[in-house]
Amino acid sequence: MRSPSFPSWGPPPPPPLQLLLLLLPWPVWTQAPAAAASWGTPGALGCPEACVCAPGGQANCSGRALPAVPGGLNRRVRVLLLNHNRVHALPPGAFVDAGALLRLDLRENGLRWVHARAFWGLGALEQLDLSANQLEGLLPGTFAPLRALRALSLAENRLARLEPAALGALPLLRALSLQDNDLPALPSGLLAGLPALNTLRLRGNPWTCGCALRPLCAWLRGHPRHAPEAETLLCVSPGRLTLSPLTAFPDAAFSHCARPLAAQDLAVVYALGPVSFLASLAACLALGSAFTACGARHRRRRRRAAARRQQRRQPDPGPGTASPAATAAQA
Ligand SMILES: *[C@@H]1O[C@H](CO)[C@@H](O)[C@H](O)[C@H]1NC(C)=O
Repeated sequence: MRSPSFPSWGPPPPPPLQLLLLLLPWPVWTQAPAAAASWGTPGALGCPEACVCAPGGQANCSGRALPAVPGGLNRRVRVLLLNHNRVHALPPGAFVDAGALLRLDLRENGLRWVHARAFWGLGALEQLDLSANQLEGLLPGTFAPLRALRALSLAENRLARLEPAALGALPLLRALSLQDNDLPALPSGLLAGLPALNTLRLRGNPWTCGCALRPLCAWLRGHPRHAPEAETLLCVSPGRLTLSPLTAFPDAAFSHCARPLAAQDLAVVYALGPVSFLASLAACLALGSAFTACGARHRRRRRRAAARRQQRRQPDPGPGTASPAATAAQA
């Protein structure tokens, strides 16, 4: 029979041994090889260090001032509560041993930096909470391994700019929170890889009513029920439009904004780029050599003129050597 305080995934130890183990002080208990499969006490094998584990694969490591992701993660961990710690950075492969993780809570860690491969191996993860941290940006590809992700919170960070590829393609993502960040707009394409998205939280950002807001306004118009507080989202600048609701802008309001370049235009730009570079290089070379040649000719002319002046100035009254001009003047 399993004791509720010592749930285990392995075969439970036989009752007499279990009783003996219970009577022993816990440091000895953790050294007992029979406890290898236990999951319910700090330090027990199978439970990550510094955490308390509960049935269902929950590892509770919250509020322990941990400076890094704890060691000893394994495929038994389904829920990892790492909230309220001091994990300021996530290195590559930080959770690679916890491949069966379904839920990861990293709230309130002062997290500033997430490596683009930090979430490698988390193909089963369904919920990721990165809220209340200090993230200023996200590297494209960071969430790419999370093919099963359904809920992602990036609320209460310092995100001021997201690359179009910051979220990538998350086919099952239903809920995304970007609220309480420093976002003035969302780039075109950011939400394009999220076909299942049905709840987008956007409150608490300094939305700026300019051309950059066009993609978000278009998304809100196209998904009227998917941003629960859309009606309350207001622009905070520029002055004239301050406090205009985002949903009040029809696409016509952006008609003065340049449309995104079509494929043809892009092809021209890409072709023109190298050609104009080479042309300007050639022009520079030509101009440079022209200047050099001009300078050389100028110097030669000046030298010749100076030589002539010197010849003229040379007082040479000797009749045998008088220049023809001087002879003529004398005559
Ligand atoms: C996790 O542990 C902390 C303190 O150790 C406790 O306050 C919290 O309620 C626990 N969370 C869960 C979900 O058990």
